Amino acid sequence: MAECILETEKMVVLQAQLGDWDNLNHLLVCKESKKAVIVDPFFSEYWLDVCSSNGWELEQVWLTHSHWDHSKGIDGLKDKQVWVHRDESLRGWNGPSNREWVNSANTSVIQKIGSLNFEAHCTPGHTPGHMTFIGEGVVISGDCMFLGRCGRTDLFGGDIMSQRHSLKHLRTRLSLVPGNWIVLPGHQYELSDGTNPTFITVESLLSDNEALKALDDDETWNSLEFLSFDDSLAEKARREKARVDVE
Ligand SMILES: [Fe+2]
Repeated sequence: MAECILETEKMVVLQAQLGDWDNLNHLLVCKESKKAVIVDPFFSEYWLDVCSSNGWELEQVWLTHSHWDHSKGIDGLKDKQVWVHRDESLRGWNGPSNREWVNSANTSVIQKIGSLNFEAHCTPGHTPGHMTFIGEGVVISGDCMFLGRCGRTDLFGGDIMSQRHSLKHLRTRLSLVPGNWIVLPGHQYELSDGTNPTFITVESLLSDNEALKALDDDETWNSLEFLSFDDSLAEKARREKARVDVE
């Protein structure tokens, strides 16, 4: 099921779509050290098996954010380094992660796995401490940025202004990386041209992503339909906010 979607001199990238919400999980492997990191694991056993059968050591877990569908697998991975941004506590997250990023919104720190180097950018908006990882030919964007659009901002801890700032920050950063780097989102959604890829190039994203194209015009930005939905998750977020406001 896990598919090798990229192999370079230094790294192997595996992608698998797992769980009830079809989450895209990504495993990054340093070929030199054979150390691996799993981003947003849905199933722990699945990725432990992939690593052991290939002779890789699963050393780290990175969460783009703490929503259930991105963090479910960490229960079985507590003996690894499990990283999440501190600000996810603002939406009630209290583990079982055991390492935290503390960088300010729209700044980055270096995160290593073996001899691979990634920039870990804090990109809030979908959640208060959402992270985006950039380096070694890939961009792992979680629910901040999908291939054709961006993540919703109406869940508890979400913020539309922060999302706009984060997307502007990412657009600037991505305009400086090679256009053939690939973007790996947290979910697969159909693009406006009817195709349904699980990754695209940075060049395609920068030219076609609807949210990025709307960033510079208030009216277009505010009319984007995918920033909020009238569904049970939005209703739950309203209840959570009301409870916090009372406390
Ligand atoms: Fe999410």
